[in-house]
Amino acid sequence: MSTVLAFDVYGTLIDTQGINEQLQELVGDQTPTFSQRWRDKQLEYAFRRSLMGAYADFSQCTRDALEFCDRALQTQLSDNDKDALMATYGRLPAFSDAADALARLADSSKLRCVAFSNGSREAVTGLLEQAGILEHFEDIVSVEEVMRFKPDPAVYAHLHNRLEVAAQDIWLISSNPFDLIGAKHAGLHAAWIRRSAEAPFDTWGGDPDMTVSDLNELVNRIA
Ligand code: 2OP
Repeated sequence: MSTVLAFDVYGTLIDTQGINEQLQELVGDQTPTFSQRWRDKQLEYAFRRSLMGAYADFSQCTRDALEFCDRALQTQLSDNDKDALMATYGRLPAFSDAADALARLADSSKLRCVAFSNGSREAVTGLLEQAGILEHFEDIVSVEEVMRFKPDPAVYAHLHNRLEVAAQDIWLISSNPFDLIGAKHAGLHAAWIRRSAEAPFDTWGGDPDMTVSDLNELVNRIA
């Protein structure tokens, strides 16, 4: 029987901080605050849309979060600036460990790898392709197929139904604690890619089954 590794995308395989160089040119010293708040707001909008039953493509959450940050931080970005930032968001880089670690996993006959994301199938395909890591995934499962966002239990149920494997035979691989807690709540295993030693995990919701500092350590432990 095979085990599925379901890789979260934004923040786990793909570095959302890859936007910072371009942000620096536009908002200068406000870059760290803008970047963090943009990401936090993007996720908040996804959570809220799921709760409201008002699904929209994840790129809409990203754009709306960008508009909010521009307003809140009074950075007065032009429409052209925002369009350019959104275009860059569609070609963010992979973390430096991703390609090697995924290639090593390809040698295992017992493990299947899929990408599992809030992003649309089209957006995630484009992102992984330009980052040079698309070939390592047998499939891309997007929450758009159920029009809910992580950590709604419906998206994790969809993942194992679609892959036709039991929940306990899937490991969610993510840097995002909210995603890991959601996966555990739905009966999946959860491995935390704790890229920063300072990154805190939530104090409720259960601990991840495994914590590693990067994707290579994950492969050493799991393959
Ligand atoms: C993803 O689903 C949560 O952003 C994260 O790719």
